[in-house]
Amino acid sequence: MRNDPPSSPSNPSRRAFLRTTGDTAAAAVIAVCAPAHVLGTSGQSAAPATSADGPNIPGAVPITLRINGKDRQLRVDPRTTLLDCIRETVALTGTKKGCDHGQCGACTVHVNGRRVNSCLSLALMNDGHEITTIEGLGTPDALHPMQAAFIASDGYQCGYCTSGQIVSGVALLKEPGGPSDAAVKELMSGNICRCGAYGNIVAAIQQVRKNK
Ligand code: FES
Repeated sequence: MRNDPPSSPSNPSRRAFLRTTGDTAAAAVIAVCAPAHVLGTSGQSAAPATSADGPNIPGAVPITLRINGKDRQLRVDPRTTLLDCIRETVALTGTKKGCDHGQCGACTVHVNGRRVNSCLSLALMNDGHEITTIEGLGTPDALHPMQAAFIASDGYQCGYCTSGQIVSGVALLKEPGGPSDAAVKELMSGNICRCGAYGNIVAAIQQVRKNK
């Protein structure tokens, strides 16, 4: 970890700068978020933070995310991305972090039924919204049809992008994009597969479309 140089009034350190501008939602710094019970209503620590609960964060704000049908009441640093909140605080790690820059689609989740790159969305912006992750689509004993189709069509290789591909594919079938393979390829172009399983991914999505 990089150590910040000491700060002075005339030369504030980067960390001091971020601390004083922590409520700026546009800040692109990724931070972790802490569950609501860690902090009191004043934003001060109500109990010593443990490593499991995450650090005590001055300026954290309360939000409620409805994730996979369950309300999660959290206090988040305003700079926390939805992706980091899902993975680090709610501990749903099926959603993957690939590029963290909106370029690979590994972090795709549904927000109110529409697919979103969660690395580009702040958790705070999703207060009160309905989030669906790969864990909310199906279970090992009751697979979502898209999960089953990916297995049947061999639509995954290393598996890292697969959750984003499946979540994206489910949303795609509700979008007005046209039923052709070319249309599916275009609409899935934001989901990168470094193994190159694109043909099989398209086949999986078209199989689900056919069986609807
Ligand atoms: S991790 Fe979000 S698009 Fe790559």
